[in-house]
Amino acid sequence: MNKQKNKPFTQLPSHAKLLQHFEKIKKLHMRRLFSVDPHRFDNFSLQQGDLLLDYSKNRVTKETISLLCDLAREANLEQWREHMFSGEKINNTENRAVLHTALRNCTDKPVYVDGKDVMPKIGAVIDKMQAFSEKIQSGEWKGFTGKSITDVVNIGIGGSDLGPRMVYEALKPYHYKNLLLHYVSNVDGAHIQCVLERLNPETTLFIIASKSFTTQETLSNAHVARNWLLDHMGQNQKATGKHFVAVSTNAKLVKAFGIDLHNMFEFWDWVGGRYSLWSAIGLSIVVAVGVDNFNKLLLGALEMDEHFQEAPFEQNMPVIMALLGIWYNNFFHAESYGILPYDDFLRSLPQYLEQADMESNGKSVDRYGNKVNYATGPIIWGTSGINGQHAFYQSLHQGTKMVPADFIVSMQTHTVFQEQHDIMISNVFAQTEALMRGRNLEETKANLLSTGRVLSGGDASIPHMVFEGNHPSNTILIKKLSPHSLGMLLALYEHKIFVQGIIWNLNSFDQWGVELGKQLAKRILDDIHQPFETTSHDSSTNALINYYHRTVGRRA
Ligand code: F6P
Repeated sequence: MNKQKNKPFTQLPSHAKLLQHFEKIKKLHMRRLFSVDPHRFDNFSLQQGDLLLDYSKNRVTKETISLLCDLAREANLEQWREHMFSGEKINNTENRAVLHTALRNCTDKPVYVDGKDVMPKIGAVIDKMQAFSEKIQSGEWKGFTGKSITDVVNIGIGGSDLGPRMVYEALKPYHYKNLLLHYVSNVDGAHIQCVLERLNPETTLFIIASKSFTTQETLSNAHVARNWLLDHMGQNQKATGKHFVAVSTNAKLVKAFGIDLHNMFEFWDWVGGRYSLWSAIGLSIVVAVGVDNFNKLLLGALEMDEHFQEAPFEQNMPVIMALLGIWYNNFFHAESYGILPYDDFLRSLPQYLEQADMESNGKSVDRYGNKVNYATGPIIWGTSGINGQHAFYQSLHQGTKMVPADFIVSMQTHTVFQEQHDIMISNVFAQTEALMRGRNLEETKANLLSTGRVLSGGDASIPHMVFEGNHPSNTILIKKLSPHSLGMLLALYEHKIFVQGIIWNLNSFDQWGVELGKQLAKRILDDIHQPFETTSHDSSTNALINYYHRTVGRRA
């Protein structure tokens, strides 16, 4: 593969220009930007299919956007994008292609990895997922004692849990009513215990979802589930075949666990864990909403893929969102980024994006192994916006930290409670307006007078009621949350993360940062199993292990 070597983005010509431009506009208030341009919304918003991105409430001018787009061009974004979509091995530390986009390539274009078109095998797995899910939904698939399945438990963690679980919750209005899905990820026994105690083993099916099939938490939970099943089935090993299926890239270990390979749904090393919900990892989604809805999810993502590939940067939603993130991260030095959904069905989106973004771009060496001297991925956090208003929005409005945020709102509700929906909508629009405008001293005084309060010169409470405003936000409007619009939304964020990774010169597709903790945990588990005092770590870790032992009464 002949790829150009990117320079650190801080050495690109536009970076220097952006620094100068930043000095000029860093104090400019967005109120002013709105007052001088009555068409600011039209000039700083984009619509694509079911999504509308309003980015007018950002601390940018047309010049900012133009310079940021130059930065993307100088970072060879077009070429890198082409490399990703065409299956080049851009995950250089693992020598892998990055082709989650092939999974939703519902066109007849081939996609090659090592000279072989991968589309036929993707199609074959979808057909297998469809056949399986139809058997579950129709009741044709019987458990060991001849009963139909009522509950499906997805056991997985990270990308093998967060994506499918979030989509399952988001698509609740599309669920089949005769099946319940459950997601178990935590190795804390409380998680699986609380799920199993509500289930009947005769009518429960487990999906063991693990790309590697080596993940300790998942395998440990899978063993607990199998023991639970066998305890109820008189230890008849044949029961496993009727109640366990696997989703993995590792057929050897799936077989070793005792799952028939006919009941394994395959995917491939060129699908990253956190980008895998579009693959067989989405099996629980297909079971819950059917293959037609899953295909609509894929088609939504495809629409965003095509938009990302074709739209000029200035009108390209993921590119614009990525560049705004860079503007705040690297010029304003904002350290975190809020994800604030105003749709209860999207309540797990912040958690999903924590992994998608932070596992991709939370890195301090560039793709060539050099230590970077600039900030990379921000801390992603958030929760349902309405609940957040009554928890941490105080800090967003009046705190000392800059927290750019995305407010994600569904226009049409799936519920019958239209007035509730109007209240929620009024709140989200009020929040972004308040964050942008703020309320200055004069307005605060006028507001108090209008409530009948008599103001004295030394009224000490007044400064507490002033809002500086100028807090940036994006508003993403979704016409209606559906498989298609959800697919678009998720692909939008995936590509945003990709663009940022390219500009920061990172490999966004490996995750070496999770390895050290995994290795140490294995060593500490060995220590925990020893009958003698642990002395081989630092004094803190030794003491914690030994204290644990004494507390649970394992050692004298
Ligand atoms: O947290 C590390 C990680 O490797 C993630 O990238 C991945 O999504 C998760 O663990 C689960 O991995 P697997 O699907 O192989 O069990």
